[in-house]
Amino acid sequence: MNAIETRGLSKAFRGMYAVRDLDLTVPEGSIYGFIGENGSGKSTTQKLLCGLLVPKSGRIRLFGRPHTDAGVRSRIGVLIENPGCFPNSTVYQNLMMQALNLDVSHPKRDVERVLRLVSMVGAAGRKFKECSLGMKQRLGVAQALLGHLRLLILDEPINGLDADGMRIVRDTLTSLSRDEGVTVLVASHILGELSRIATHYGIIRHGTLIREMPAAAMSQECRDFVFVQSTDNQAALHLLRRVWPQAEPKDGGVRVYDEADAATVSRFLHDQGLPVQQIVFQKIGLEEYYLKVMSEQQESPLR
Ligand SMILES: Nc1ncnc2c1ncn2[C@@H]1O[C@H](COP(=O)(O)OP(=O)(O)OP(=O)(O)O)[C@@H](O)[C@H]1O
Ligand SMILES: [Mg+2]
Repeated sequence: MNAIETRGLSKAFRGMYAVRDLDLTVPEGSIYGFIGENGSGKSTTQKLLCGLLVPKSGRIRLFGRPHTDAGVRSRIGVLIENPGCFPNSTVYQNLMMQALNLDVSHPKRDVERVLRLVSMVGAAGRKFKECSLGMKQRLGVAQALLGHLRLLILDEPINGLDADGMRIVRDTLTSLSRDEGVTVLVASHILGELSRIATHYGIIRHGTLIREMPAAAMSQECRDFVFVQSTDNQAALHLLRRVWPQAEPKDGGVRVYDEADAATVSRFLHDQGLPVQQIVFQKIGLEEYYLKVMSEQQESPLR
């Protein structure tokens, strides 16, 4: 079953589309990395999903039911933009108010659980207004983790966190997903960090989904390779395939996958009597892949 399914989802502000005809498919149990440039519609989509905004058109289903269904809604944890907190109340009090508001079954126990999860036990007595940016951000994550969750919707949860804070959030999300089957939809610009946990990706641009795929498919596309150009690329391809069967012609040369050493490829062709004109090793991560996809996209005439 899919945790989230939107079909033809659109939202406009004063006649300008922020989200347009969005078909999002988030499988249950996945950690779905939602990426796109500033103003592309990530936060708007997340607000639509949790009912903070009303769509102009389209359909939203969460676990096969309408997103307005009370049973489904009570099991969604949300962190979108500024966590709603009382400045003069402590971290603990803010969490307690939220737990009571959500009507969780054992509020005290649950607040202590989430404080431990985000390593904020020591800061529980601190007033919200006296918290650092990272502490506020962790508190926001803790708020989203209250209750017996099935789905977590997080907007930039690691923004402003130090390395330790990022690790804590990363480990928490991974274990929630792995051990409890919680689905996580997470928007982030910190792609290196996101790529360590995401099982699926969706790339949004100008309110439209331009790519959606499992992380495994992306890493297949992101495989490192040696790119080589020779005086006779056809002959080079033929020879290279004997050693590297997955070599393929591309961009006026040959890509050799599963080989990290350009010198080995160069030596091989040289030994076969084929002069090499250019050879480079290319390492591709999520960041490069994302930039490549974005540069391939034409400016949308609709905006
Ligand atoms: N309440 C609003 N009123 C008017 N326009 C809005 C409103 N909320 C969002 N927008 C516009 O909708 C578009 C999408 O904004 P959104 O906040 O969803 O982008 P985003 O992908 O979350 O960007 P970022 O990476 O900067 O967080 C932007 O053009 C934004 O200016
Ligand atoms: Mg946003």
